[in-house]
Amino acid sequence: MSEPVAEDMITRSTSDREILLSCRNVTKEFSVAGSRITAVDDVSLEFPEASVLAVVGESGSGKSTLARMLLRLMPVTSGTITFRGQDVTHLKGSGLREYWTEVQAVFQDPFASFNQFFTVGSLLRRSLALAKIPKDEADALIEECLGYVDLRPKEVLHKFPHQMSGGQRQRIMVARALMMRPKVLLADEATSMLDATLRVNVLNVLHDLKNDLGLTVLFITHDIGQACYLADRVAVMEKGKVVERGTTEEVIFAPQADYTRRLLADVPDLKGSLKHG
Ligand SMILES: Nc1ncnc2c1ncn2[C@@H]1O[C@H](COP(=O)(O)OP(=O)(O)OP(=O)(O)O)[C@@H](O)[C@H]1O
Ligand SMILES: [Mg+2]
Repeated sequence: MSEPVAEDMITRSTSDREILLSCRNVTKEFSVAGSRITAVDDVSLEFPEASVLAVVGESGSGKSTLARMLLRLMPVTSGTITFRGQDVTHLKGSGLREYWTEVQAVFQDPFASFNQFFTVGSLLRRSLALAKIPKDEADALIEECLGYVDLRPKEVLHKFPHQMSGGQRQRIMVARALMMRPKVLLADEATSMLDATLRVNVLNVLHDLKNDLGLTVLFITHDIGQACYLADRVAVMEKGKVVERGTTEEVIFAPQADYTRRLLADVPDLKGSLKHG
């Protein structure tokens, strides 16, 4: 098996790409019932352009808190977030709105993101209207972005959320995010609620978006198997700290942290299932 690994290391190399998004020494503390907990503890990560970085860790390790801070939905306690070389940690007003078009997110439960009384077509058109995208551009943009996730307007626009599969709903959420023409797509447990076949389908869509649109993807998951299937680089979080980071191959074949080794022990067939970049 040594040859395919070497090949993977070449195709997955991201060291020559520009760093699009990064966080430096980011910490988040919460006060809960008078005591302080550190949900994210001094985390520094870099997201090169057109690459997939997976953040893996068990429940409560701080993944979503980190994602909310990167998305600027939650203030940092300390540390810095940088996008295209600009400090965006304390961005406000129109600057922040601009940031939110460039950094889009997809979350765990696509059903919760839908209003069950709206068809997919009205959901997508409303998103475009809110973003002040002219009506005469809407249909073409919707068709283009549904195409990226392998859906056709005729199949889905007239449907209500409950008339589609979980995988279709999640792909529509990805399409909605893409309509803003983001540079970064942050997916927080976006495939967790899907069964195995639909999950692979959505993972492959994310993989293709990286290659076809040059999208930078932050893929958050508790499942190291999915992380290694999709990502160029993997960071492992335990109790708010990054305890392991490296290329997917480094993490699989030469894990440094005991915690990573424990996560890997649950997926013994991982080494044979690497996806080529
Ligand atoms: N708004 C909040 N107020 C207080 N504590 C919080 C808040 N949000 C998260 N926490 C705590 O911070 C820690 C990290 O939570 P977080 O949601 O980031 O974990 P996670 O890695 O995303 O977990 P999961 O895999 O279950 O989604 C947990 O101990 C959680 O209880
Ligand atoms: Mg979470």
